Amino acid sequence: MRSILLYILLAVVRAAPSPSHVDIVPIPGATVVPQFWDVQAFLDGPTLILNGTVQDIHKQLLEINPNYDTDFNHTAVATGDLEKRTDFTGSKVICSRAIFGHLNYGAYKDSLTYLGKHPGRPHMPPGPRACSRVSCSYNTGVYICNDTPTDKYLISWGSVVDGLQYIWAKCVAGILVDMQGGQVFHSTNWNVILRETNC
Ligand SMILES: *[C@@H]1O[C@H](CO)[C@@H](O)[C@H](O)[C@H]1NC(C)=O
Ligand SMILES: *[C@@H]1O[C@H](CO)[C@@H](O)[C@H](O)[C@H]1NC(C)=O
Repeated sequence: MRSILLYILLAVVRAAPSPSHVDIVPIPGATVVPQFWDVQAFLDGPTLILNGTVQDIHKQLLEINPNYDTDFNHTAVATGDLEKRTDFTGSKVICSRAIFGHLNYGAYKDSLTYLGKHPGRPHMPPGPRACSRVSCSYNTGVYICNDTPTDKYLISWGSVVDGLQYIWAKCVAGILVDMQGGQVFHSTNWNVILRETNC
């Protein structure tokens, strides 16, 4: 009985709409800017420009085309893009529960899967400290921040995945209890933040 109730409760929680506009400033002094994604809802369809997290985009695409996932096989598409990796070796990392809060393991795995298989290139509006939330689930968010005063384009979403894995390796370091968030700074003046937030 108890497990049935728990199941129902979880189903309700999961079905609750995610208020995509509830966003926090990921680091003091940052400006939050929306991430715009060039996407197609249909294989022969026009390019649409949508904003939000990768989960928001996916939800909107499914509303436009319920067969989106089978029409576009991103698992196959991403293999090529993921080969373009970004090296974070030796990068500065800040790990802090006080600044970045607690992380959810499922959300971290989600962000790797959703971002990793997404085609296209992340675009960052001019900074410094211009941050976009690009993934959010279970109250754990991923932000990419541009510290240069000009537009910046990354090679692929694989670059963000690389930053996330670097933060995870340094800040969580295999201890999956009370996991702390963090931030990694790439030498080309952009950074990735993995932190607690509201989705
Ligand atoms: C961002 O997306 C929302 C819907 O998800 C839309 O209402 C809003 O106008 C968009 N913002 C811009 C600047 O296009
Ligand atoms: C998507 O592509 C992968 C890898 O090529 C393949 O294993 C999978 O069956 C495909 N899925 C669909 C729904 O076509």
